[in-house]
Amino acid sequence: MKAVTIHSLGQANPLVDVPTPAVPADSVLIKVHATAVNNVDLAWATGKRKKDDTILGLEVSGEVVESNSAVKVGQRVAAFVVGGAYAEFVSVPANRVIPLPETVSYSKGACIPVSYLTAYQSLFWLGQLQDHQTVLIHGGAGGVGSAATQLAKALKDVTVITTSSAAKTQACKENGADYAIDYEHQDFEAEVDQITDHQGVDLIIDFIGASYFQRNLNALHTDGHIVIIGTLGGEIVDQFNLRYIMVKRATVTGSMLMPRSEEYKAKLTTEFAQKTAQLFADGKLDPVVSGAFDLPDALAAQKFMHDKQNVGKIVLKV
Ligand SMILES: NC(=O)c1ccc[n+]([C@@H]2O[C@H](COP(=O)([O-])OP(=O)(O)OC[C@H]3O[C@@H](n4cnc5c(N)ncnc54)[C@H](OP(=O)(O)O)[C@@H]3O)[C@@H](O)[C@H]2O)c1
Repeated sequence: MKAVTIHSLGQANPLVDVPTPAVPADSVLIKVHATAVNNVDLAWATGKRKKDDTILGLEVSGEVVESNSAVKVGQRVAAFVVGGAYAEFVSVPANRVIPLPETVSYSKGACIPVSYLTAYQSLFWLGQLQDHQTVLIHGGAGGVGSAATQLAKALKDVTVITTSSAAKTQACKENGADYAIDYEHQDFEAEVDQITDHQGVDLIIDFIGASYFQRNLNALHTDGHIVIIGTLGGEIVDQFNLRYIMVKRATVTGSMLMPRSEEYKAKLTTEFAQKTAQLFADGKLDPVVSGAFDLPDALAAQKFMHDKQNVGKIVLKV
């Protein structure tokens, strides 16, 4: 089959021949119709994270063409994989496939696994979001941010506040955010203080990291949760007074989905699929697609993300 690997990405024709994956017991082979770009792909491709010359890509949508499990051949699915998605075929454990409703295109389907699973886990498993609470979602116009906004609004009766650059606040609102703070011209701490009548938010979904850490704690309600899932704005907090955590009785937690156990990923996928299937079918959950590239143009697609041009996800058609 053809695939794009870490080393072939920069070549004039990045499609290289690699063996079609085997299909172990309890697994399926998916003929990939689309995949989507993630920051990890960029980190792998630029060598920021060490990885062998693996096939890039974390998520696919497509059609099951071989099955060693109860999943039927011909079933339309999406799936989260740890590498291997920028390819014509991918093999996935059957308990990790998300059935794709007929109404969801393959392009949109490819945008579901990473962003929505991450957002679902962060909001509900780690962040314990409850009805009538307020959640602050940083990077609200990105893949995870747009998914988190939709999931929070669809599954709970909550107020959603996003942050984004000025050009993307309207997109955040159109995606369902109740308030969209423009972090370039507004101080999100002051805005949250005003929106919440000095109460602060109950949950913060953050992938900016160090540069927001103190301000996040300042914007948090007592007993609130901060879920850290990325460090786009730095990893090291130089000086921090631990007293803030005690005073706020804050729960600061974080997670990386990729290294989680197979059992965890399967449990998350199963619960997510059960809770959201009808919402996707009805269009109440509707992945935001920023643009689509053909697989050989994967490098240009990555540059698009690197330059922060995307609102929502970037699709690669296979
Ligand atoms: N831990 C996990 O399991 C997990 C899983 C999936 C993703 N992630 C991480 O989550 C993050 C978001 O992923 P994504 O797919 O949503 O990426 P994305 O689509 O690129 O969205 C991220 C958005 O954040 C904003 N941003 C970037 N740098 C910023 C900064 N320094 N300060 C403020 N805003 C900034 C940008 O929008 P603006 O133009 O508005 O600034 C950007 O579009 C990445 O770090 C990714 O690695 C973690």
